[in-house]
Amino acid sequence: MRLYLATLQLGSFRNYDSATVHFSSGLNVLYGDNAQGKTNLLEAIHYLATGRSHRTSRDQDMIQEGRDELLARAEVVRKTGTIDLELRYGLKTRKQLKINGIAERKIARLVGSLAAVLFSPDDLQLLKGPPSGRRRFLDMELSQISQTYLHHLMAYNRLVAQRNTLLKESVVDEGLLAIYNEQLVETGARLVVRRAEAIRRLSPIAARYHEMLAEGREDLRLAYHSQGVGDEDEAADLESVRRRLERALARVRHEERRRQVTLVGPHRDDVGFWIAGRDARLYASQGQQRTAVLALKLAELDFMTQEIGESPLLLLDDVASELDPHRRHYLLSAVREGVQSFITCTDLEDLMVREWPESHRLFRVRAGTVVLDDRGLG
Ligand SMILES: Nc1ncnc2c1ncn2[C@@H]1O[C@H](COP(=O)(O)OP(=O)(O)O)[C@@H](O)[C@H]1O
Ligand SMILES: [Mg+2]
Repeated sequence: MRLYLATLQLGSFRNYDSATVHFSSGLNVLYGDNAQGKTNLLEAIHYLATGRSHRTSRDQDMIQEGRDELLARAEVVRKTGTIDLELRYGLKTRKQLKINGIAERKIARLVGSLAAVLFSPDDLQLLKGPPSGRRRFLDMELSQISQTYLHHLMAYNRLVAQRNTLLKESVVDEGLLAIYNEQLVETGARLVVRRAEAIRRLSPIAARYHEMLAEGREDLRLAYHSQGVGDEDEAADLESVRRRLERALARVRHEERRRQVTLVGPHRDDVGFWIAGRDARLYASQGQQRTAVLALKLAELDFMTQEIGESPLLLLDDVASELDPHRRHYLLSAVREGVQSFITCTDLEDLMVREWPESHRLFRVRAGTVVLDDRGLG
């Protein structure tokens, strides 16, 4: 047995009034016209896996218009037993998590219950888009693997916000700044080391997928680059990362005062993509970018499977609309026995999968309702 989402229940979530869906432990195909609620459903699954939406940083956007609280609930089957996960978010209440009916104070407790890898057309911007997208990719992945990482990440983000506020004051309290610096170095170093390690491990896996996708013509390499710490070879050892961050903070001291923001630390870091030895962010064609992003996503699925000992859910949003047949076919090869998958599409013909996993279900999504289509996929 393995990790799968058996039941999803939604209340006042986007265009879902209320819905309960029982999924196959294998493949789930969600089809329907545009703007019916297919992506919303994947968003809800992602929300339950990570505590965050992949589309918005404001939870309130997910509350159905005119309502004041949303509910997303999942029954997850794992090797270790069944888990009942419940997230509520209200306009007047904070985000609330319950696991097996028991209220949890920390949202980070969510980690380890449900894990998912999502591929959406927006991901194709990952390589050429701003560094924030690449940091987010890493943070989402590591947050699902490690409660400690998520805990440090949340603390770090709070700290940077507080430190920025302090830097904006006309007279900066030096004592407080020194305390913030110490915390920034301590927490920041942990994030840098963990991210750099993840990239070191993802790089060869992504390179293998890339080689197959690009038919061996070019090699792909990923590298973590840390502002202030340097390249990933320097980011391996916690103690040395701490020292480097400390020195970097001292270096930018005056500039930070002038610009009134925190200039070094993992919130400024980036991931480099090198294709055939050249910086892909500058030189890659659109086709090369897509191939590299796909390779990275497939690597993420493998990496997370290794880390959690079970395959995470695979969520493929609208892959048919943005990928050419060759890349689409390749991505769909990740849909196999042992991986619970969710694929959305407007036209079933586009999926072109010859061998569907043994167990699958087909759902029709229309205006915030999900109906099992018992024709199956044939
Ligand atoms: N907070 C919300 N309240 C009610 N409806 C919403 C909310 N957010 C989005 N919607 C509706 O959800 C629909 C889009 O759903 P989506 O899942 O993105 O469609 P698709 O099936 O094309 O993936 C639109 O009709 C939009 O108006
Ligand atoms: Mg959609």
